Amino acid sequence: MKLLDARRDHYRKLAKEQGYRSRASYKLLELNNSYRIIGPGFKVVDLGCAPGGWMQAAAKLAGNKGRVVGIDTAYMDEVDNAKFIKGSVEDESVVDEILEYLDGKANAVICDISPQITGHWSMDHARQISLNYSCTKIMDRVLAVKGNALFKVFDGEYSMEFRDYLKKKFAKVQLRKPNASRKPSSELYFVCLGYGLE
Ligand SMILES: C[S@@+](CC[C@H](N)C(=O)[O-])C[C@H]1O[C@@H](n2cnc3c(N)ncnc32)[C@H](O)[C@@H]1O
Repeated sequence: MKLLDARRDHYRKLAKEQGYRSRASYKLLELNNSYRIIGPGFKVVDLGCAPGGWMQAAAKLAGNKGRVVGIDTAYMDEVDNAKFIKGSVEDESVVDEILEYLDGKANAVICDISPQITGHWSMDHARQISLNYSCTKIMDRVLAVKGNALFKVFDGEYSMEFRDYLKKKFAKVQLRKPNASRKPSSELYFVCLGYGLE
């Protein structure tokens, strides 16, 4: 078995054992260990949340004093201690529902959004980045000053432009690739800390 397959298998097995819906949960948990994107009591918005692996991890990290709300165009089963809203990040009318559920602004916005993959990398990359820009429009309306964010990026020609865009909004933006992420997948994560701070 190749090392990458073994690693993928490891996280899939772990997710099954620990009751997470997807392997992806470990990417968030790993990044959170290094950066504390989500802390206890945080209000969290998860954009592109189905099937709910990140929401489960976020609900655990935020604890019972926190609140987690996720948005996706696909249906998913509810996650304990979190709310699911079926909607698109390209429709800003979800903002009111988010703020109402959170009862105020969010402390963290996490985005693991992916378009339908066509297999044409430059097209998939451009569409994914465009979805990320839509996520930032929602983020700008729901994230509190000093809040944090996490964005998955399909790496390609527009990645650094997107990073520079984020850099104008946050005190610190770091590029990371967690161990739980498949090496050849060319997905990167931008960890963004300190929204609205110079
Ligand atoms: C990789 S999955 C997210 C996995 C999730 N983080 C987890 O841990 O279970 C990406 C999601 O983005 C969603 N998505 C794609 N376009 C969207 C849009 N316009 N609005 C909301 N969600 C969208 C897809 O439906 C898909 O469920």
